[in-house]
Amino acid sequence: MKIVRTIKQLRRLIQTAKQRGKTIGFVPTMGALHKGHVLLMRRCRKENDLAVVSIFVNPKQFGPKEDFKHYPRNKQKDISLAKRENVDIIFYPSVDEIYPSRYCSYIDVGHLTKGLCGKFRPGHFRGVATVVGKLLNIVTPGTLYLGQKDAQQCVIIQQMIRDLNWDTKVKIIPTVREADGLAMSSRNQYLTDRQRQEAPVLYQSLRLAKQHISEGKRQAKTICAMIRRFVQGKTSGAIQYIECVDAQTLTPLRVLKGSVLIALAVWFGETRLIDNIRIDV
Ligand code: PAJ
Repeated sequence: MKIVRTIKQLRRLIQTAKQRGKTIGFVPTMGALHKGHVLLMRRCRKENDLAVVSIFVNPKQFGPKEDFKHYPRNKQKDISLAKRENVDIIFYPSVDEIYPSRYCSYIDVGHLTKGLCGKFRPGHFRGVATVVGKLLNIVTPGTLYLGQKDAQQCVIIQQMIRDLNWDTKVKIIPTVREADGLAMSSRNQYLTDRQRQEAPVLYQSLRLAKQHISEGKRQAKTICAMIRRFVQGKTSGAIQYIECVDAQTLTPLRVLKGSVLIALAVWFGETRLIDNIRIDV
């Protein structure tokens, strides 16, 4: 496995691989790798000749009051984990390598970035789209691997790739969960013991919503209220949002129909957790 710190060196390796007719798969991450990341890497490894993983805590997607400084970083553990998964290249750039001084270009994926998490994290998806766009231009993969855990991020990146005519396929991997249902996240390690015990309630509430829908409930308002009551009754978490939207367009729904995404964000103390479920109604 090669650990590459510069764009120039990575481009050289990619060019050589392409000249040899190799297919390239790419998994962008911010490190603090867990089983969710591992499953993305495995799919990428299995389906491509060259598996490239980036580890870059992207300052542009953190708000001024968010956890950029304290975001978990664990270089050695991440590297050994990627090695174990037979990744070919880890791209581990510095902030200056990605954003040299006087950097000023950004990608704005329009209204898709305004709802759900975007409402509460202004500028977040502009930062995500910009860094993923830059990484795609550097790695030029045939296939990009993303996790359904970040459902809005998936929709935005897919739209950006279509809009900007990039020649990359996107594969979305289902959310990987702990045994008790909590979606794996680098931020779970911030949780106190009590918060960790309560956090699986988020997925339980989404499962319950799915059950209500399968029993015939169709009003988004009723479903969101049920989730709210469930989470409030069983946890100390502060709900930021619970929404039912169209899974492709992210448009808020009044009546549940077609491919529905139920997404939520809940604060446990200083830690913000997100989760979602997709339901075909
Ligand atoms: P990060 O949170 O490190 O996640 C990297 C990738 O792993 C994303 O595609 C994310 O959706 C996926 N992932 C995280 N937890 C998962 C889980 N429990 N199950 C399945 N997939 C999971 O998302 C980012 O980084 C950044 O925004 C990034 C795209 C790298 C841009 O900076």
